[in-house]
Amino acid sequence: MSFEVADAEFVAIVGPSGCGKSTILNMLGGLVAPSAGAIEVDGRPVTDVPPRVGYVFQRDTVFPWRTVRRNIALGLEYRGVRGAELEARVREGIRLAGLEGFEDAFPATLSGGMRQRVALMRTLVVDPEILLMDEPFGALDTHTKLTLHAELLGLWEARHQTVVFVTHDLSEAITLADRIIVMTRRPGRIKLVHDVRISRPRDVIKLRETDEYAHEYGVIWHVLGEELAEPGP
Ligand SMILES: Nc1ncnc2c1ncn2[C@@H]1O[C@H](COP(=O)(O)OP(=O)(O)O)[C@@H](O)[C@H]1O
Ligand SMILES: [Mg+2]
Repeated sequence: MSFEVADAEFVAIVGPSGCGKSTILNMLGGLVAPSAGAIEVDGRPVTDVPPRVGYVFQRDTVFPWRTVRRNIALGLEYRGVRGAELEARVREGIRLAGLEGFEDAFPATLSGGMRQRVALMRTLVVDPEILLMDEPFGALDTHTKLTLHAELLGLWEARHQTVVFVTHDLSEAITLADRIIVMTRRPGRIKLVHDVRISRPRDVIKLRETDEYAHEYGVIWHVLGEELAEPGP
C-alpha cells in the first residue's frame, strides 16, 4: 500500500480485523521495519530522523503503580523534563484531560474512559508532531467514546498534530477524520481513499443526524461491507 498524509491532516484507516492496520502504524512509528518499500517523513526515511511521534494504543497502557499525575509525567520524564517545567506541563495536561481532583488516584480506581484519558494526555503533553492512534477508544462504551471524540477534536483543533487513527468503527472514522483510507481484508491493500466532506468544528452528537453523515457512511459502508462480508481464508 502507498499513501501520503499531509501536515496537520487527520487520517483514519479502517479495515477488517487482521488486515494489517496495526502493522502499518508500527511501521509509521519506526517500531517495525518494512520488508520492502520506504516510509518517509518530510522526504527522509523515518528511521533516519525519528519524528516526535506519540502513540496511543487500544488497551490502556497506564501503569497501575503510578498515580494519574505520575503517569502523565512519564513521557516528559523520559525526555529529561524536570522540576517546575515538569510540574507545570503535567498540571496543564491534567486540566485539559478534565482529571482535576484525581491527580493522586491510582488507575485501578478510575473508569476505563478516565484511564484512556490519562494515556491520551500522557502522549499529548510531550507535544508530538505526529500522533499515531491504534483503536484507542475501542474498548469504551458509546457514551464515553463520544465524549472522548469531542475532547480529542478539541485538542487537535488547538494543536493540529498530524494524526493517523486506526479503527474498525466507521462512525468514529467519519466523526474524526479529514480523510479515510479503507483497506481490504488480508493481505491488506488500499481499497478506497475517501475525503470526508463534513465541515469543522464538528458536533460529535448532532453530526450523526445530518444528511452529510448519512451520505458519507453509506458510501464507505458499501465498500467496507464487501470486505467484511466475504469469509476470510
Ligand atoms: N503485509 C503483511 N505481510 C505479512 N504479515 C502481515 C502483513 N500485515 C500484517 N501481517 C500480520 O497479520 C497479523 C495481523 O496484523 P495486524 O496489523 O495486527 O492487523 P489489524 O491491526 O488490522 O487487526 C499480524 O500477525 C501481522 O504480523
Ligand atoms: Mg490492530
